[in-house]
Amino acid sequence: MKHFIADTQLSKSELEQLIKLAIDIKQNTSNYNQVLKGKSIVTLFEKPSLRTHVSLDIGIAKLGGHSLYIGQQNGQLGKRERVKDVAKNLACWADAIVARVFDHQVLQEMAEHASIPVVNALCDKYHPCQALADFQCLTETFGSVENLNLAYVGDGNNVSNSLMLMGSILGANVTIVTPPGHGPSQEFIEQADKLATQSGAKFKVCHDINDIGEQQAIYTDTWVSMGDDTKVEDILNIFMPFQVNESLMAKTGASAVMHCQPAHLEQEITTSLFDSNQSLAFVQAENRMWAQNAVLVTLLQD
Ligand code: NVA
Repeated sequence: MKHFIADTQLSKSELEQLIKLAIDIKQNTSNYNQVLKGKSIVTLFEKPSLRTHVSLDIGIAKLGGHSLYIGQQNGQLGKRERVKDVAKNLACWADAIVARVFDHQVLQEMAEHASIPVVNALCDKYHPCQALADFQCLTETFGSVENLNLAYVGDGNNVSNSLMLMGSILGANVTIVTPPGHGPSQEFIEQADKLATQSGAKFKVCHDINDIGEQQAIYTDTWVSMGDDTKVEDILNIFMPFQVNESLMAKTGASAVMHCQPAHLEQEITTSLFDSNQSLAFVQAENRMWAQNAVLVTLLQD
């Protein structure tokens, strides 16, 4: 593993190893408190962040490493200087780059030109650090993710792409339920189909909430992602039937609800469900740190 920029770069056993390592770092943190000693990691953000920024900073410190946050002070990536040159400069001093960008292409370009590992901290297409933390959380909750019925309900976006791709590699039965016209792209559907066939999992996309079927966990995310200028008022009517609430939990038999946050309460999820003991949202948030640490330790091991 050289970079971590798309879910499909990893095999089932590599992902399982990362999840196992994330759980071990979580349970036995003191055994790992020097593993990033002498390593400097640049965390670069083109978009706002609470969980990713803080979990990276504190997570890297817990392993004895040093993180340096770079926001928008240098303007949009690729405007003031070429992405290629930013990557080559950062590689002169740092040991890894973790970047949240608008365009996945920017990460590809960085990975191509930086001589150090590049990690995707969210882009337009994927959110692999989130998916890894989520499958860690599901492993801890259900014992295994193989044959686990997991539905994502809402807007087809970076989070659902990573969930369906990583889930299909790991053998989870992922169902994506979105309003018509808001589903994953055909390219990602075909990839997930193929990966599910290889792992023996079931993968389904549907656009009628009544087709959701029996589920063990339901996942949702914002109806309008960062960088999308759609006004939520303009889409409320088509998305409201896809709200994740107690009645959907009862209908599907799901015992757990997941959200990567920030949550838009009373839109994609009800306040009462988000605050309930069925909600794994804060375990997911905590696991961001352990999962990212597992990725960094794996990428930076000597
Ligand atoms: N889909 C959301 C995820 C935020 C963590 C977004 O891209 O804004």
